[in-house]
Amino acid sequence: MNKSIWLENEVTFDKVSSNIQTDLLIIGGGISGSNVLYFLKDSPYKITLINNTNNNTTCNSTAKITYLQQDIYTKISKIYSQEKAYEYYQSQKEAIKLLIHIIKTEKIDCDLEKVSSYIFSNKKKNNLDLEKDFLKNYNIPFQLKKHLPISISCNHAIEVKNTFMFNPYKYIVNLKQKLNRYKNISIYDQSLATSIKKKKNGYVVFCNNKKITCNSIIMACHYPFSIEKDFPFTTYLERSIVSAFPYSYENPFSMINLDQEVLSLRTYQDHLIFLSNSHNINCKENILKEVKKHENKTQHLFQKKGEYTWINHDIMTNDHLPIAGLIQGSHIYILTGYNTWGMTNSTICAKLVSDLVLKKENEYIKLFDPNRSTNIKRLVNDFLYSISSGSRLLCDKFCKNKDFYQENVKIVKENGIAYGIYIDKKNQEHKVYNLCPHMKCNLIFNSFDKTWDCPCHGSRFDIDGNVIKGPASLNIKITKDKN
Ligand code: FES
Repeated sequence: MNKSIWLENEVTFDKVSSNIQTDLLIIGGGISGSNVLYFLKDSPYKITLINNTNNNTTCNSTAKITYLQQDIYTKISKIYSQEKAYEYYQSQKEAIKLLIHIIKTEKIDCDLEKVSSYIFSNKKKNNLDLEKDFLKNYNIPFQLKKHLPISISCNHAIEVKNTFMFNPYKYIVNLKQKLNRYKNISIYDQSLATSIKKKKNGYVVFCNNKKITCNSIIMACHYPFSIEKDFPFTTYLERSIVSAFPYSYENPFSMINLDQEVLSLRTYQDHLIFLSNSHNINCKENILKEVKKHENKTQHLFQKKGEYTWINHDIMTNDHLPIAGLIQGSHIYILTGYNTWGMTNSTICAKLVSDLVLKKENEYIKLFDPNRSTNIKRLVNDFLYSISSGSRLLCDKFCKNKDFYQENVKIVKENGIAYGIYIDKKNQEHKVYNLCPHMKCNLIFNSFDKTWDCPCHGSRFDIDGNVIKGPASLNIKITKDKN
């Protein structure tokens, strides 16, 4: 898989290699899991964190720490109310405060920079005006701009100051190294949780063929797995292409547009990080084509070629609010659905979940409640998104060879079972099941990363069938007894 600019120098912790008994198990070692661990570090609990891979959502993000998030306040106002949108704004402001506090008090080296954030548009009329009205109504300071600090076409823009950016991998790895010194904390890498069994007083989680026995689970792994819940109907996966290339600029900045074709940019040291081609993974099958489009755009706008190019997946909730809290009738907490704003939302949701574990008050319990009651506008959104996913699932059942596949990729059916075959440069055949273990969608070959990707909820597998990204937790290798 192609790695992001953040994963230059990876550090790994030990693997789970024996059975473990713990009070709390955190599944996922990205920014959500690391922040929950931080907020619980002084608790009386024994805590274990397991992480599968560093190639996670945190390390594929653009890592902006801002409350100016495209037209999110307008969108939340339309589904719920302006008051709810303002509550969300307050949560983001608090998240920024908390994150900066952690970085400063723990002296975490993560290339933190204070910058201005911009939202901009090329259109004369769109949600930028509504976003401006929202900021005005609530006396949130901003400035209107006609130009951006980069030569990119812009009709009008909004600037806010006192926002931040950092290197997300340096943040999580340095924080985890500090936390791993606590007596009550154990951190593991390359440890994939494959299933969860409910026991009388807690759970057994199967990981690397070992058992982890725990009282409660904190699911901080992007797309939750092994939970019977309505996630597939209330969320969808957005895929974007990101690249980084050398670039000279005067002052660092962070910006994103509001137009149909999303352009998101930020500076990092002597590089520009550029994200484009965001799309619902249900809608675009030919990933190589999307990468090419992104490369052409990079060339057109900046006359540059990506030194690093990678794919990012974000979970989008249909009501634009994250999901964080306790799953009803269980001892499983979740935090996910950050709608591309993972640095702030992971922090505020981690604080919420840790407060719930410690039985403390938290003002955002209702706002992010995973069991929150719905309203008609949200139901309509859920319905439309479910139709899109459902139709994908049905049309994939026909399991035809994709016309964009190169000659070295095939999908075959043998005795009614679909297989995916990839033939590598040495002419070696890699054959796997073509059915996603999560909810049985057929997989699509990603020629850019050389992976089998699920178009329904974003699970990914390497060419030999090992799962590298959930919600699927089982691999698609061909076992002898089934072959
Ligand atoms: Fe859900 Fe594949 S069916 S990730």
